[in-house]
Amino acid sequence: MAKPPVSLRVIKHAIPDEVWPTRDEAARARWFQPVQLGRSLVAATRTWVPAMVPWRATADGEVTRDVLDWYGRFAEGRPGVLVVEATGIRDVPSGPLLRAGHDRFIPGLAELVRVVRERSHGETRLLLQLIDFLSIRRRPEPARYFSQFLAVSDAHRARLGGPWRSAPEAAVRAHLATLDDAALNAVLTARELDDLRMGARERITDTERPHIRELPRVLPDLFAAAAVRAHAAGFDGVELHYAHAYTMASFLSALNTRDDGYGGPREQRVRLPLEVFARVRAAVPPDFVVGCRYLGDEVIAGGSGVDDAAYFGVAFARAGLDFLSLSKGGKFEDARQPAIGAAAYPYTGPSGHECMPTVRSDARGPFGRNLALARAVRAAVRAAGFTTPVVAAGGINSFTLAERALADGDADIVAAARQSLADPDWFLKLRLGRGAEVRRCKLTNYCEALDQQHKKVTCQLWDRLDPAGAGDRIEGRRRLVAPPWTPPP
Ligand SMILES: Cc1cc2nc3c(=O)[nH]c(=O)nc-3n(C[C@H](O)[C@H](O)[C@H](O)COP(=O)(O)O)c2cc1C
Ligand code: SF4
Repeated sequence: MAKPPVSLRVIKHAIPDEVWPTRDEAARARWFQPVQLGRSLVAATRTWVPAMVPWRATADGEVTRDVLDWYGRFAEGRPGVLVVEATGIRDVPSGPLLRAGHDRFIPGLAELVRVVRERSHGETRLLLQLIDFLSIRRRPEPARYFSQFLAVSDAHRARLGGPWRSAPEAAVRAHLATLDDAALNAVLTARELDDLRMGARERITDTERPHIRELPRVLPDLFAAAAVRAHAAGFDGVELHYAHAYTMASFLSALNTRDDGYGGPREQRVRLPLEVFARVRAAVPPDFVVGCRYLGDEVIAGGSGVDDAAYFGVAFARAGLDFLSLSKGGKFEDARQPAIGAAAYPYTGPSGHECMPTVRSDARGPFGRNLALARAVRAAVRAAGFTTPVVAAGGINSFTLAERALADGDADIVAAARQSLADPDWFLKLRLGRGAEVRRCKLTNYCEALDQQHKKVTCQLWDRLDPAGAGDRIEGRRRLVAPPWTPPP
């Protein structure tokens, strides 16, 4: 077989050496200058920890001691902004993910805010990421799929032909279960094949289902009510999750073919995200920050690209969103096939790699890989006359890279997820001129593999360190938070 072109070959990239700033250099650095978000909120620095689900809530979506420890530990590094994980806006069971779908969640969220304020010495601004998602099932046993899930139709019978046209349904089901892949390809629809091979997954285009058809009617109020709860709990603002594989991103997607005025051309795809924002904005005080995270590129066949992202960015800025946080990829459409009994995970395919790039990458490498998208969106927003801050993320694991991105006008704020997970103190270490002590993320995605299995997320680098000390949280052989670091007096 011919070798792929050099630009596509997978290379294992080394983490580049870093020249760390002195304390004075850090004090002058762009990354550590304040930035205003919305009408009056000022973040002390342009450092940002984007949302990361750690799987530490109760099965009922409540804040636990583990959740408090997790966010409290990030707060100790005093990022300018800390975004709390994707938090469900509905009051429905959704596993150990935080929820904001009912007033009973407010006290737990308020405690989270209190802990972050205390452990960041009041410095870190705190946003809650608000998410809606549709249902997804695990990949079924084929026998079960054919005996229970598939709706056998006349079309199936016709494609099978011969005696199957009038055979009893049970016989048709039993026969289908014996067919090989090629034969099934000829009998089942593309959607049925996907349900069989990946697990059934609802799409926003399933408008024949009443609860999907009604999404534009119900989502604005659900988001607004969750934002009101975030405000009541003391958060500085919310980040509307319009990115990755979830409901709102699916409305923005070029694959959105809804014919009810909420799909098709860009201006209709952006309609619901704008209506959600308008309802949220009207429900919370004017100084409460409301921004969104969305995709600079979906990186899937037929999906939205950077031109769409620039168009959406201008529309969001015009509507008055307080910040635009750019991400990339992370879609179900190209996800790897899950094992039988497991659910598809949107960060396993090529678009997933673009979302959380690893050192095993093409020639461009993972470092600052997505900055060009932020740059293009920011340029479009500025050209349209808006000053809305743009947040960039993706493979940023060094001071030099962040500083260069700001100097080059790629973004106004630079976010680092996994590097902050590997070492939550790293912003503080940089500011103190102690960059040489930063525990550097390897960008190998051990953490992401835990997320994929819905296991408590930790970092491989924490586990290899010295035995537990006082105050460490250990479960089995794993630390649940980064080892402690004591800043010099
Ligand atoms: C364990 C884990 C959980 C994540 N959860 C979320 C999430 O809840 N919401 C979100 O928008 N992005 C989520 N992300 C994506 C990150 O916010 C970020 O965009 C991505 O990791 C790329 O940035 P990085 O290279 O700095 O890690 C998650 C990433 C990881 C590693
Ligand atoms: S587990 Fe690996 S990729 Fe994740 S934060 Fe730690 S070093 Fe980085």
